[in-house]
Amino acid sequence: MKKDNSKNIFIVFGTRPEAIKMAPVLKQLQSDCRHFRTTVCVTAQHREMLDQALELYDIKPDYNLNIMERGQSLFEVTTKCLLKIKEVLEKEKTDMLLVQGDTTTAFAASLAAFYFKIPVAHIEAGLRTNDKYQPFPEEINRRLISHIADIHFAPTKKAKQNLLAEGISESRIFVTGNTVIDALQIALKNLKADNTRLKRLDGRFSYVNPESRLILVTAHRRESFGKDIEDICMAIKEIADNNAGVEVVYPVHLNPNVREPVFRILASESLNNPAMSEKRRIHLIEPLDYESFIYLMDRSYLILTDSGGIQEEAPSLGKPVLVMRKTSERTEAVNAGIAKLVGMEKSVIIREVERLLHDREEYKKMALHVNLFGDGTSGEKILEVLTEYFHL
Ligand code: UD1
Ligand code: UDP
Repeated sequence: MKKDNSKNIFIVFGTRPEAIKMAPVLKQLQSDCRHFRTTVCVTAQHREMLDQALELYDIKPDYNLNIMERGQSLFEVTTKCLLKIKEVLEKEKTDMLLVQGDTTTAFAASLAAFYFKIPVAHIEAGLRTNDKYQPFPEEINRRLISHIADIHFAPTKKAKQNLLAEGISESRIFVTGNTVIDALQIALKNLKADNTRLKRLDGRFSYVNPESRLILVTAHRRESFGKDIEDICMAIKEIADNNAGVEVVYPVHLNPNVREPVFRILASESLNNPAMSEKRRIHLIEPLDYESFIYLMDRSYLILTDSGGIQEEAPSLGKPVLVMRKTSERTEAVNAGIAKLVGMEKSVIIREVERLLHDREEYKKMALHVNLFGDGTSGEKILEVLTEYFHL
């Protein structure tokens, strides 16, 4: 019998954005089954929001660690991930562990691999704000992963420079673009190729008046919990109250620290109730599956968010993004003038949104279509690097 020399790539992820950004890489690796086997391990740090992505990409994990508990702290997430990944790695002969981004799942998985002396490859390496509490705990998660990883897939030249500045060897850094652009292009292609899908989405969001200017909102950062998230909500309320012809769609993250203030301040009647939604101009809805979210991004006039991934996607769709954070690690978008840091202060958020609503010139300057974070071939590039690494 012929010996199987294929390499086992152990892929770990646990949250919505990791699943979206890992899916194109998984697809590439699976397309080369002569050289690679993949073992997919989800920690399920997220549950429902992860399942939406698993379903979309038809990913059936080999291991589901099921660690999510409502409102659990970073201590629980970290220790549960670490101990459960240990159990799995003990069983699986692993040639390389692959993680994405800066979640606690990605950090704990890298640490577990390090303890077993398994090589680690890190997708989306080198993002930095240089402020250890912004974003929290992601800035430290990603720094620690960088010092564990053997291969670094940097999305941009800037990210590569950040890694070099920390003493990471140049021979281990590969600028591949961000895999989220692969995911975005696949989603757009699927949507545009299938008219019934588009019609279904038109129907699903028919409560948004097609004449309205749509502001798409998301917010979930830990460093904004408390007063900042309340301020964000009050700003949204005032923007909707003061600007006729504007509607807000806000898919609310499932974190209880987000949901409590959002529903308290912005009222919950519209959730899952399209009849109520028709009369309202702020639509609070459940987190959306990726394709529906991309459809709404494409329909939006502007995006108000603290999300990392959305800052990367918006330039490819030509949508201005107002970033409700004090710092961003996606300075490429800020420097290109497509993203603007507006912080979390109510008056500033209102002022900046209204500027884009009323000043056409300002709006046009920001609504630029550019692929700043990749060209949709990151998955292919990552496959090439791994093939070379293993001399396959
Ligand atoms: C996590 C990541 C963050 C990433 C974000 C993407 C960490 C520490 N944080 O933050 O980097 O930007 O995901 O969204 O890794 N919940 C559910 N169902 C879900 C998901 C979350 O109920 O499907 C609730 C649970 O109560 C859970 C809480 O949200 O305890 C927080 O989830 P957690 O993964 O700890 O943090 P996020 O804020 O989602
Ligand atoms: N997204 C989604 N549904 C939503 C909101 C966001 O599919 O309701 C997608 C979005 O397009 C991006 C990713 O989820 O690809 C970003 O996730 P999130 O903001 O939770 O995490 P971050 O990028 O900040 O880590």
